[in-house]
Amino acid sequence: MPAPELRLVLAVSLDGRLAPADGGAAQLGGRGDRRVLEEALAWADACLIGARTLRLHGSTCLIHGQDLLAERRRQQRPDQPLALVVSRSGALDPALPFFQQPLQRWLLRPRGLGPLPTGFARELPLEGWPEALQALAAAGLTRLVLLGGAELAGQLLQQQLVDALQLTLCPQLLGGTHSWLPAALGLEPNRWTLEEQRPLGGDELLLRYRRLRAPAPAPVLPP
Ligand SMILES: NC(=O)c1ccc[n+]([C@@H]2O[C@H](COP(=O)([O-])OP(=O)(O)OC[C@H]3O[C@@H](n4cnc5c(N)ncnc54)[C@H](OP(=O)(O)O)[C@@H]3O)[C@@H](O)[C@H]2O)c1
Repeated sequence: MPAPELRLVLAVSLDGRLAPADGGAAQLGGRGDRRVLEEALAWADACLIGARTLRLHGSTCLIHGQDLLAERRRQQRPDQPLALVVSRSGALDPALPFFQQPLQRWLLRPRGLGPLPTGFARELPLEGWPEALQALAAAGLTRLVLLGGAELAGQLLQQQLVDALQLTLCPQLLGGTHSWLPAALGLEPNRWTLEEQRPLGGDELLLRYRRLRAPAPAPVLPP
């Protein structure tokens, strides 16, 4: 069974930061970013969310655009993609607004960590990412959006499991250390091809890249 298609969707600052220097919840994107985020959600069967991102934000983004909701209904898909929370600890406060949001919640975590926490309809084991993605494909989920944060994105990029990047470049410099990939991450050589660049208004720019499976050799430039 082919692995699900995985698209990483992030809003990043001009200096490639995902969060403010103090590490709090990032609120980077404006109206244009919100629209392209919702477009990605409308494409997706499910969204992967790191537990730390969820703890900091308290909830996840929902599709609100009436045209996007109408199209999902026409396709007989649920209004919102499934939320797949990734956690080792399973420590998620059931009072988070996330647990009141109108969507289905599944938990991805290592085996043997006790009963399923309140608020989740199902759990899938996370022993390794290729196996977990296969299990998601077997459950009928073929289009996944990865909503971060950096720790989660780093793992999947390191294992070359991310097929596409959707980045909104936001007109701020944040400084600090919270790059959109962990600083110590080692990566195999890789190359991406630009599929779309779209000004979003509000000085934001959408960039969509797709992974080249056989990386093109780096260009040789004159000295
Ligand atoms: N600008 C944007 O678009 C955007 C998007 C998302 C996030 N953010 C920002 O990113 C920051 C959070 O990112 P982060 O890198 O610190 O954390 P993260 O990636 O959101 O979450 C890390 C947590 O995910 C769980 N996890 C990760 N890998 C796992 C694995 N292999 N197996 C089981 N569980 C695993 C663990 O949860 P447990 O602790 O429960 O074990 C870990 O503590 C926040 O500042 C947020 O605002 C920004």
